[in-house]
Amino acid sequence: MTNISLNFRIWRQRLQSSKGQFKDYSLKDISTDLSLLEALDKLNEELIKKGDRPINFDHDCREGICGSCGFLVNGQPHGPKDATTICQLYVRNFRDQSTLTLEPWKAKAFPIIQDLVVDRSSLDRLIMSGGYCSDDVGNAPDANLLKVSQKDAFSSFQTATCIGCGACIASCRNASASLFVAAKLAHLGQLPQGQLLRSKRTSQMKRQMVSENFGSCSNNLDCEAACPKEISANWISWMNHEDC
Ligand code: FES
Repeated sequence: MTNISLNFRIWRQRLQSSKGQFKDYSLKDISTDLSLLEALDKLNEELIKKGDRPINFDHDCREGICGSCGFLVNGQPHGPKDATTICQLYVRNFRDQSTLTLEPWKAKAFPIIQDLVVDRSSLDRLIMSGGYCSDDVGNAPDANLLKVSQKDAFSSFQTATCIGCGACIASCRNASASLFVAAKLAHLGQLPQGQLLRSKRTSQMKRQMVSENFGSCSNNLDCEAACPKEISANWISWMNHEDC
């Protein structure tokens, strides 16, 4: 086990309406086996001992599956490691004495709640507008009654891996939610169960995207690079060819 020291510049903001600023901190002699979030837990223990307000950040599963975590590390959503959520980033992924600048997601549709926590309820409202299947299909059918090809099942599953963390939006210069919406539409749109309301879902989600102040696709593919689940930006062009 090796120990290193890290320096942090962290965005501190008490309220949505208050003025935020960066504050400097350091953690000495910490194990490289700690995750970055565990390092922040340690920093918070030190702050609480000193009577300071702890740093607020979102997290839940800490296993890269729930999509609760996410902030910028040195300007990169979820930090420097490809296909990795912030909760799966480890202290060993950084050099001894390096300085990490931690900032919340930056997007009009994600107002800051406190420190590194932003309000991502706009994504919930997008899902409520059409990211679900509500067709009345009666009782549960017998297994295998509705045939789905392996190709369609794999392809649908690939888009279903979207965890809704918001990294695609935070990385886009237009703060576009195109990759998120495309993944949700493609997940259901490739399955027979999702055909009945397919075009209605598409038009409703596209409308909601605009009303939530998300921008249009910048065509820069930053979303694809930032996605911890490596969802392809090709799904955006798939979405653009959908009838609605
Ligand atoms: S805390 Fe669940 S994905 Fe990071």
